[in-house]
Order: sequence, then structure tokens, then C-alpha cells
Amino acid sequence: MTTETENETRPAETTAYPGREQILAKYKDRKVGEPMPRSKFFTTLGLGWATFTAMLAGGSSTMFFFLVPRVNFERSQVFNVGPPDKYPPNGVDETFKPEKFWIVRDAEKIVALNVMCTHLGCTPNWAENENKFKCPCHGSGFRGPKGGQLAGINFEGPAPTPLRRCKIWLSDEGNLMVDRSILFEQEKGEWDNAQSYVLV
Ligand code: FES
Repeated sequence: MTTETENETRPAETTAYPGREQILAKYKDRKVGEPMPRSKFFTTLGLGWATFTAMLAGGSSTMFFFLVPRVNFERSQVFNVGPPDKYPPNGVDETFKPEKFWIVRDAEKIVALNVMCTHLGCTPNWAENENKFKCPCHGSGFRGPKGGQLAGINFEGPAPTPLRRCKIWLSDEGNLMVDRSILFEQEKGEWDNAQSYVLV
């Protein structure tokens, strides 16, 4: 005799979830209480784990992009080096040497000199007593700003050209701004460019 319970089919699922349609299609004829074949059991288990893993992976990637800020970590090439009166006449300021430039002021202008020796790229040292930038690698010398000299001009050793100037300008707020990525070469006549100095 067949009982009402045995004839009862499984109630229709009402909650949507990934893989639901495949599972319902496989077992639509199965009666309640009928044991599930071993192969179907493992198929169902595998499908369940695959669904769970996919959901976990999707959630993890969403969380990753949520937690990692979208910030550009590239270092800026532009520096605010303060107002012109911070720099006394005929002086060399080494504050920004780690950023690859000196601020040099002579009697009438301020320039930002690139610290790379034009021989083979070493970094010269500022020798105030000798009024020159002296390269420790092969002895090149570049003039300092005292005595009305044009700072950065090569005058001894193997360096073939003067030091380079970085782009410099005065901001609307009255601060000197330096862009170390834009260089001006004296031997090409680029030191005449008004972006290579600021008059004081
Ligand atoms: S690298 Fe400066 S003198 Fe050679």
C-alpha cells in the first residue's frame, strides 16, 4: 500500500541561489524518504562546495578592492620650496639635495640646480669655502654663486657641460615651486628660458 507521505513530492524551493536550477532538475522525480544514490550524493556535495567556494571568492575580491585605497603612490616631481626671502643672496641651500636639487641664489635670481654631475652622473658636494660644487668621482668642479658668477658652470675636471637647472616658478601664494622632472641645459641656450630661474 502506498502512503500519502511516500507519494508526496518534494516542495518547490522558493529561495533562489546559485546552482538551484541544476539541483531541482536532477531530483524533480524523487519521493520524500527515498534514499539518495551514493553518486548523486557526491555530485550534490561537489556542486554545493563549488557554489560555496565561488561565493567566497567573489566576496573576498570585493572586500579586497574595498579595503585597498585607490591612491597613486608615484612620487611627486613638484616641490614647494617656500618663499624667495627664505634664501639669502649668494647662497646655496642643500635642504632638497635628497630630492636631487639645490636652491641657489645669486645677486639677482634664484635657480634650482640638478645635483647630477654631467660627466658620469655622480653627486657633487657643495664646498662653500671654495665657492664650488666639487664632484668626488673624477674631480669636476662647477662654480658657485658668489662673486657674480653663473652658478653651475663647469670649470675643472672632465665634466663637459654645466649642471642642469630644474624648472622653477613663483606660485600665486608667493612660494617657489620646483619641477625636478623638467631640466634646462645651458649649452643649448635653455638657461635663457624664463622657466629656468626666478628673478628676485
Ligand atoms: S662623475 Fe663627476 S667628475 Fe666624473
